[in-house]
Formats: sequence, C-alpha cells, structure tokens
Amino acid sequence: MRCFTSALLSAAAAQVALATPIKARSAYAVKETHFAPREWTKLDRANGVGVMQLQIGLKQGNFEELERHLYEVSDPEHERYGKHLTAGEVNDCVRPKKETSELVLEWLLENGIEPAGSTTAEDWIIVHVPVSVAEHLLDTEYHNYRHEDGTIVARTTHWSLPRHLHSHIDTIQPSTSFFHASANRADWVAGGAEVPASFKTPANESISSVCNVTSVTPECFSTLYSTKWYKPTAGDKNQVGFTNYLGEFPVRPDTKLFLQKYRPEAVPSAYSFKAFSIDGGILQDGPLTRNQSDVEQISHEANLDVQAIAGISWPIKISSYSTGGRPPHIPDLTTPDNNNEPYLTWVNWLLEQDSFPQVISTSYGEPEQTVPKSYAERVCRQFAQVGARGTSLLFSSGDRGVGGTGKCYSNDGKNTYKFLSDFPVSCPYVTGVGATMNFEPEESAYRAPRNVSGQFRDLYSSGSGFSTYWKRPKYQDGVVPAYIESLAGAYDGLYNKEGRGYPDVSAQGLYFAYFWNGTEGTISGTSASTPLLSGIISLVNDALISSGKSPLGFLNPWLYKKGYRGFTDITKGFAYGCNSTNKGFPVTEGWDPITGFGTPNFPELVRAAGADCEW
Ligand SMILES: *[C@@H]1O[C@H](CO)[C@@H](O)[C@H](O)[C@H]1NC(C)=O
Ligand SMILES: *[C@@H]1O[C@H](CO)[C@@H](O)[C@H](O)[C@H]1NC(C)=O
Ligand SMILES: *[C@@H]1O[C@H](CO)[C@@H](O)[C@H](O)[C@H]1NC(C)=O
Ligand SMILES: *[C@@H]1O[C@H](CO)[C@@H](O)[C@H](O)[C@H]1NC(C)=O
Ligand SMILES: *[C@@H]1O[C@H](CO)[C@@H](O)[C@H](O)[C@H]1NC(C)=O
Ligand SMILES: *[C@@H]1O[C@H](CO)[C@@H](O)[C@H](O)[C@H]1NC(C)=O
Repeated sequence: MRCFTSALLSAAAAQVALATPIKARSAYAVKETHFAPREWTKLDRANGVGVMQLQIGLKQGNFEELERHLYEVSDPEHERYGKHLTAGEVNDCVRPKKETSELVLEWLLENGIEPAGSTTAEDWIIVHVPVSVAEHLLDTEYHNYRHEDGTIVARTTHWSLPRHLHSHIDTIQPSTSFFHASANRADWVAGGAEVPASFKTPANESISSVCNVTSVTPECFSTLYSTKWYKPTAGDKNQVGFTNYLGEFPVRPDTKLFLQKYRPEAVPSAYSFKAFSIDGGILQDGPLTRNQSDVEQISHEANLDVQAIAGISWPIKISSYSTGGRPPHIPDLTTPDNNNEPYLTWVNWLLEQDSFPQVISTSYGEPEQTVPKSYAERVCRQFAQVGARGTSLLFSSGDRGVGGTGKCYSNDGKNTYKFLSDFPVSCPYVTGVGATMNFEPEESAYRAPRNVSGQFRDLYSSGSGFSTYWKRPKYQDGVVPAYIESLAGAYDGLYNKEGRGYPDVSAQGLYFAYFWNGTEGTISGTSASTPLLSGIISLVNDALISSGKSPLGFLNPWLYKKGYRGFTDITKGFAYGCNSTNKGFPVTEGWDPITGFGTPNFPELVRAAGADCEW
C-alpha cells in the first residue's frame, strides 16, 4: 500500500491560524452552475439568519490509487483478489494533500468560520453557518424552491470560490443539488394486483405449486432461485444491511407478522435485527403510530426491505440504517438545513465505522440530472471506498423504464427530449438491480400507466439506462458495445452510448407479499428486487466465509468476468417509459440494460464465487 498521509485537521487549523496567509486572497470566480430541475419553482430569498450545515468536499489526495486498489482486490483474476483494504488504508488514499487542507482552512478562518467537524480522512469538512454567511462565503444568493410535491428547500443555481481554491474543493452542498430522492417502490394497493397479460402457469410443478404471480413469497423465491437447500453457517462473521431515508424505519411488529406467515423459523429476526439512527433517523420498536400510518403513511419501503431480506437470508444477521434529514425543511434558527443530501450523510457515517455488513441494499434513487455532477461524483467515490473495504453495494435501477411519462427532458435550460438515467445506480462502483415478473420464463417487469379513482398512476417498468455522468467502466467493455450495436441506431441521440449502462443484474419485482400497519398487501418495484437479491448475495458470502474465503466485495469486476454464469439470462421484455405507447430498449440474449445478466441461480452463483460447498 502506498498512499498519501498528511496533515491532521486540528494541527493544520492551529498552524494556519497563526501563520501568515500562504496565498493572498484571489478573486472569486464561478465554480459551478446547475439548472433548477423543471419540478422546482423558485420562491423568495431564503431566510438569511437560518442556519445551514455545509458539507465541503476537499479534493482527495489520491483517489486514482484508491480506485486501482478497488479494481485489483475485486478482480477474480488478480493476485490481490479478496484482499480488501482496512479503514486506515482507505483513508490514507483519500486524505487531502496538506496544501489542500491548509488553503481551505485558511479561507474558512479568514471568514471567521470554525469547522464543526470532519471525516477521519479529512476529505469532508462540515461547517454550520447562517444562510447569509454561506452566501458571502460562496458569493451567491440562496432562494427557497418548491418541488411539485410541496417540499421546500433553500438552494442556488450557481456558486463561486476564490480562484486559488477551485482545484482544492470538489463540491460544497447544499448549494446546487436539487436532490429529491424517492423510494423505488410502485405499490398499487388502490389498483389491486392483477395477473400480467403475458403470464403463463409454469409447467414445472415445483414452481407452480409455490409461486403465485399476484402475491410472490419467500417460498417462491427460494424455489425459483434454488436457495432452499442452503443452511447459513458463518454466524456473526457474515451480515447484510439496508438503508432507509425520508423518515422511514422498518416496523418490527409488521416484520413479525410477515415472518410468522412466510418464514416461521425466522421470526426472532423481527426483534433482533440491529437498527442504527444516523443524523436523527427514527428508531422505533413498536408499531406505527396513528399519525405515521394515516397521515405520514411511512415505512412501506423499509418494511419491504427488511421482509424481503429476512425472508430469503435467515439466519444471517441484519442491520438497518435510518438516516434523518427529512424534507420539507426550511432553514430556521435552531435546525441546520441538512435535508436532501441523504447518501452522503449515510456513507460518510458508515466509513467511520470499524466494520459494516458485507452487503448493503438501497432502494432509493432519482434522475441523475437533478444532482450536480461534481456532487454525484464525490458521493460515488465515497461508495468506492466502501467497496474497497469489501462490501457489495446494491442499488435499485428505478421503476420508470427509460423515464417517467412527461419527464424526459434535459435539465440544461433547453428542455431537449431524452431518456433519463438515474442516480446513484449509475455510479460505476455500485451494482444496479432491475426487476422481473412471471416465472416460466421470467421477463422484465412492466405494468402500463393507468388512472385509479381519477388519479394518474404512472407506468411501472424496470429502470434502464446509460449514465450521462460516468463513462462506461472497463469491466463493461465486453458486453455493452455489442448491445448498443444490436440496437442498430434505434434511440440514437436519446441516450449516452459512451455511458455506464445499468442495471447489472435483476430479480423478481412484482407483487411481493408484505405486511404494513398490521395488514397484508402487495408491493412492487426494483425496491423489491434489490433487497431480495441482496439477501441472496449475502447467502453466497456465507458460503465463501464458511469456507475460509473473502466475501465478494465490490461485485462488478467479478460479475462481468465470472459471476454472470450464476445468473439466468432473461430474454423477454422492454424498458418502457418517456412515451406512453412506444417501447424503449429491448431485453436481449446476454447483458441488456433492463435485466443485466439476469436473475440468480444460487448453486451456480456459489460455484462461480468459488466457495467450497458440499452438494
Ligand atoms: C394468489 O394471491 C392472491 C392475492 O393474495 C389470492 O387472492 C389468490 O387466491 C392466490 N391464488 C392462489 C392460487 O393461491
Ligand atoms: C423445476 O424448477 C426447479 C427450481 O428452479 C428446478 O430445480 C428443476 O430442475 C425444475 N424442473 C424441471 C423439470 O425443469
Ligand atoms: C393502521 O392501523 C390502525 C390500527 O389497526 C388502523 O386503525 C388504521 O386505519 C390503519 N391505517 C391505515 C392507513 O391502514
Ligand atoms: C404527524 O405528521 C405530520 C406530517 O408529517 C407532521 O407534520 C406532524 O408533526 C405529525 N404529528 C405528530 C404528533 O407526530
Ligand atoms: C387518465 O385520465 C385523464 C383524464 O381523464 C386522461 O386524459 C388520460 O388519458 C388517462 N390516462 C390513462 C393512462 O388512462
Ligand atoms: C417519443 O416521442 C418523441 C417526440 O414525439 C420522439 O422524438 C421519440 O422518438 C419518441 N421515443 C420513442 C422511444 O419512441
């Protein structure tokens, strides 16, 4: 390991405070501009005395080195495969150069601002300042903006820095990030589950006897994906986790009801899974309160996540991470405005922990273009750090195919019609998960848009796309160009041919049986397929760890070289969206940007991973 080590923040602060300025102040120049997405309306000036929490992303000392390590330890053909990094080794790579830390601190102290905190690697500095001070610091004006759904946040469309700091600071948020994460769940309780037109009863009786297409259960998944025979034995050494945002938390009594009905031996996990609160995230062991169920109507997503994971992976230990900072939120005197930056808050908290689960599932996302590139890039780099430490991050690919109805316009002020890619699934250091439906054969999940009781419900189609922010990573070179060629020019100009294609893999994602607020219902989405697949990957890790091997870690380099053999290719379906009637990208033989390499075949996955199992 050779990486940078440099100044400690506190020592640097003391030094800088005493030293004469290293560089005279340079003139301000615009560092970043970003259009407010169409869904947001500009209101009045933000309250100048309201306190904001600014996260300052300092340029990391040697991210390229970290990335090299990540790819080496994740490449099954490399001698370092499986030799994941320690927290200290990761921090040594990303710690900013001494000059960077000193110049940024000097600038803050000159403006009378003391850092309120920093990450251990010191690549992020947190400050709490009134809006008026942030405006002065960044030579900008903050306005309140209202989202279509009523959420109000204080943001700006451009900000500046002294010129000499441009190469030392990657991003400062909240400023231009109109982040509006939402759960990738499509629940049509109002419309009711209905048998897809393309559904055929499976001829295979072991499947048809346990799989009901309008209410799929753990028994169905464990049969369909052949996990039933496997008994986890790694104990505490192996864990699986999932993240909750927007005020969500998994409800233990609902989890108990679900497991009692569908996985009775797993009932203890309803009360034994660990729940972590980050930045004020809700911790609650009892049922939903009347306000939570009837007014806020929260925790559909969190319940789905915990139930899908526990149902397939019992007795593997589960951790739940609830991150606070829930909109709507207008900065006021007492509460720093910290909403809408959920992934960063979570991932930086996680990176401070000595250890964390080897698989973590996230079922949230939003169009990539609502997040400024500089910010998305830094969040993605933080995910790379998690991967380097040996954890697989799985993200849902979204539920609107190539884009929601009436949403497919560029955010560059020109409103050009185009397919929309989603973030964070587009980050090349995470694994994207799409959704399927039906059983023989499975095909990509789809349900047409419709009106339910006079209310428009948009289509559900497994999220699909090519990033506009990240180039195609090398590991995709063997399959993605061939797919694009097979399109023979269809959709040219609507998507980025050079971009990272997603998802990487998929799993069932239509009409999961689940419990919420004491009652059984069904729920769908890549929100469902992602925790299900996370549970299955954690079973593979169990087999690896039990045979004295390393867990899979960052999956993609392995997946595109070997792991794909552990997935059943899906060849039927399309990504719909953007236009209500036209079909978008087709599902094809081999990798495609709707179902990736397909759905898991657990025994083959264990073989591809090289675990020593008795068959
Ligand atoms: C399938 O599930 C639906 C919804 O729960 C239920 O109404 C139906 O009876 C089930 N069908 C079978 C054959 O069990
Ligand atoms: C039926 O499905 C099960 C579970 O996927 C599989 O193990 C079995 O081989 C299948 N049987 C036939 C005849 O295809
Ligand atoms: C939630 O459960 C409570 C208690 O059973 C019930 O009174 C309430 O109507 C339920 N709310 C919803 C939205 O289902
Ligand atoms: C009930 O929910 C609303 C909407 O989220 C919230 O504003 C209010 O504070 C909640 N009330 C209580 C008593 O928790
Ligand atoms: C939903 O209803 C609106 C208003 O009646 C109509 O314009 C629209 O075409 C309907 N959409 C669908 C998908 O049925
Ligand atoms: C959707 O409609 C737009 C404008 O009518 C058209 O340019 C585009 O080709 C259509 N997209 C698809 C996927 O058919």
